[in-house]
Amino acid sequence: MNGMNEDRHLPPETAAATTAAGSGKGVSTARNSVSSGPNGAMISVRDLRKKIDKEEILRGVDLDVAVGETLVIIGRSGGGKSVLLKNLIGLMRPERGEIWIAGQNIIGMSERQLGSVRQKVGILFQSGALFDSMTVEDNIAFPLIEAGMRSPNAIRARVNEVLEVVELEGENAKMPESLSGGMRKRVGLARAIIRRPSCVLYDEPTSGLDPVVSDNINRLIRRLQHRFGMTSIVVTHDMKSAIQVGDHIAYLHEGRIYFYGTPDELTRCRDPIIQDFLQGRSESTAR
Ligand SMILES: Nc1ncnc2c1ncn2[C@@H]1O[C@H](COP(=O)(O)OP(=O)(O)O)[C@@H](O)[C@H]1O
Ligand SMILES: [Mg+2]
Repeated sequence: MNGMNEDRHLPPETAAATTAAGSGKGVSTARNSVSSGPNGAMISVRDLRKKIDKEEILRGVDLDVAVGETLVIIGRSGGGKSVLLKNLIGLMRPERGEIWIAGQNIIGMSERQLGSVRQKVGILFQSGALFDSMTVEDNIAFPLIEAGMRSPNAIRARVNEVLEVVELEGENAKMPESLSGGMRKRVGLARAIIRRPSCVLYDEPTSGLDPVVSDNINRLIRRLQHRFGMTSIVVTHDMKSAIQVGDHIAYLHEGRIYFYGTPDELTRCRDPIIQDFLQGRSESTAR
């Protein structure tokens, strides 16, 4: 992976050991070889803290996502999952902490420097965030045009390439309002990958979709991983999706990663707070 072998950009090795397992109340299994390092982590987060209006939303998040893996982040609604993703691409700035993307700490970067990081990291927003007045093709092409690409033929070729990936060949001229929910998500995904990022962040990619369409999106996430070696973070509150797409699952609870492990480890976890979440119970029984 290019850009990952510059020593001065390496995340601190020591911090990995103090992640979920070291945060006191965490129930995570020990961090495995996925921890930070030049050949290990594509994304590393260290002690990330973010307040909004004096409320501490993120209270020291530690995370590692290995190259080519899919990490699912689960947690209660309003718990800060979207805020975490926005911090990862510099749309929000944290009070403190480190965010390493492909070997570079993005904290303190200028907008211009962040621009090149955003090329590496595509994001599918929760709402889909399509421009309603633009065709599918223009929506998808938007990041290329913003990046200065001008040749209509080259743009069209790239758009067709990603439309094929998301299985929407030939839908170039459609308007967003005429698309189903699942198709809108796929157009959003096509736009997220048009600049050929090495990572994709998905915010609730299956919310509002029926189980069959959700399954289709989940397979697409897996296909991108296998076909392009994409590193992904998928935020969801849908446990079925989490287990279907995640290599690892992290549970964000009270501003920290409370649990980190494989889907299997999560479903076998007997911790009452995890159990309440898995069973869809309110928090009261764990208190
Ligand atoms: N731009 C914002 N301005 C004010 N409060 C916000 C903003 N974004 C998020 N929040 C608050 O931060 C908390 C976490 O939100 P969010 O990250 O969207 O939760 P989740 O995605 O886990 O459901 C919520 O209390 C939310 O109201
Ligand atoms: Mg959210």
